[in-house]
Amino acid sequence: MSHFPKKILLNAFDMNCVGHINHGLWTHPRDQSFRFNEIEYWTDLAKTLEAGLFDGLFIADITGSYDVYQNSLDLTLRESIQLPSHDPTTLVSAMAAVTQHIGFGITVNLSYEHPYQFARRFASLDHLTNGRLGWNIVTGYLDSAERLIGHKNLKDHDLRYDQAEEFLELSYKFWEGSWQDDALLKDKKNRIFTDPKKVHSIEHHGRFYQSQGVFQVSPSKQRTPVLYQAGSSTRGLKFATKHAECIFIGGDNPEKIQQQVQQIRQLTRENGRSEDAIKIFLGISVVVAKNNDLAHEKLREYQSYANPEAGLAHFSSSIGKDLSVYKDDEAIPYQKTNSIQSVNNRFKEQKITIQDLKNQHSLGGRYPLFVGSGDEIAEALINLLDFTGIDGFNLTRTVTPESHQDFIKFVIPELQSRDRFKTKYENGTLRHKLFQHGDHLSNLHPAQEFRCFKQTDSHKNTRDLTQQTA
Ligand SMILES: Cc1cc2nc3c(=O)[nH]c(=O)nc-3n(C[C@H](O)[C@H](O)[C@H](O)COP(=O)(O)O)c2cc1C
Repeated sequence: MSHFPKKILLNAFDMNCVGHINHGLWTHPRDQSFRFNEIEYWTDLAKTLEAGLFDGLFIADITGSYDVYQNSLDLTLRESIQLPSHDPTTLVSAMAAVTQHIGFGITVNLSYEHPYQFARRFASLDHLTNGRLGWNIVTGYLDSAERLIGHKNLKDHDLRYDQAEEFLELSYKFWEGSWQDDALLKDKKNRIFTDPKKVHSIEHHGRFYQSQGVFQVSPSKQRTPVLYQAGSSTRGLKFATKHAECIFIGGDNPEKIQQQVQQIRQLTRENGRSEDAIKIFLGISVVVAKNNDLAHEKLREYQSYANPEAGLAHFSSSIGKDLSVYKDDEAIPYQKTNSIQSVNNRFKEQKITIQDLKNQHSLGGRYPLFVGSGDEIAEALINLLDFTGIDGFNLTRTVTPESHQDFIKFVIPELQSRDRFKTKYENGTLRHKLFQHGDHLSNLHPAQEFRCFKQTDSHKNTRDLTQQTA
């Protein structure tokens, strides 16, 4: 069980593109996101976030583009709605070189990767970051991505998760099952770099993947990167509560968020893991200033640059349905699609019109918005966290880098003065900082089945370690 009051965990939520979540704000005179293809833009951001003691920088990614709204890419291109967008993995080494502590949660869509190449790339990055890497596991939801790689349509929603299960199993074999911890000797005198007895060939003959051989990367600090996931459909939750160590959720109704959290904790227990094995992050937007009046003034100014219609174009692709065909006051009918189920289900549960969505997207995005002074925001975040049982927040950017700087200047000190945010980093890997049980996955995680090494990290929830060494 978690101890109260919990310290708040905080990720900056970003993407290697111009418009991420809050669309249209790239036109604001102070917004710098048009510089996203410059390396200094990212190294400066990493340094800023680390100075603010952020736990992580979480970088979203999408394969494909948003062409569902008006059955066209026009608005997507004009407003730069995640197009152009570049590979997030390419940013990590540069940011790691100018920081020491902040973690990097990088999104990779497994549907367009082979587990071997992917596992090798991420293990290499975990080495270079000294164990600060996380992977946001996504399976994709865009037909446009399928066409780019020569397929016609997306695989069925649940089948995508079945493939993800096998992708993870094979990745665990590479990360956890090929090299023993003490395989690398680097013994110049006896001419033994690696002890051949301690490197094992893995075998995998599955429904989606085949593989045989030795993994090419020696064990990195964490071996498996910290696993993030955001699925919230029935199948998505089953997957996430089995594998993930961090789950991202959306939502603006505290009661519903609380229910979601309880469901996640219960499913985690049913999967044989301890109930605090998963940190839950809620996506939020914040506009903060010295006092409430100035914050609302800033919000109005931001809103004059935001583009709610661009938000709807993004939303159309999330649910796989063209929202441009409805009038403003028309209720949007529910229709089953193959895209993000949990978002689409909202239309089944309640009557929502285009105008409702436009109002919700007044800042160009659909995340819950907090506006006020630093102490008001700090109180609101603490109350929401304590009420719902989440562990932290995934903070979107608005006008960048201004919104990060404002949060660090106004909100972080208020959280710290209430003893709800750290005042310095602990040393260690990202996993150790998040869970305080060592660098490796817990022994209650399903990956332990594929291990070839003896787990030595101390964790109160571990099983008898001596019985599981392969
Ligand atoms: C906070 C959050 C962040 C997400 N980030 C991404 C992303 O970067 N790339 C992506 O392809 N999908 C992303 N998704 C979508 C999820 O990975 C997943 O496909 C989606 O929630 C659908 O799962 P479901 O149908 O099980 O609900 C995100 C979802 C949430 C809630």
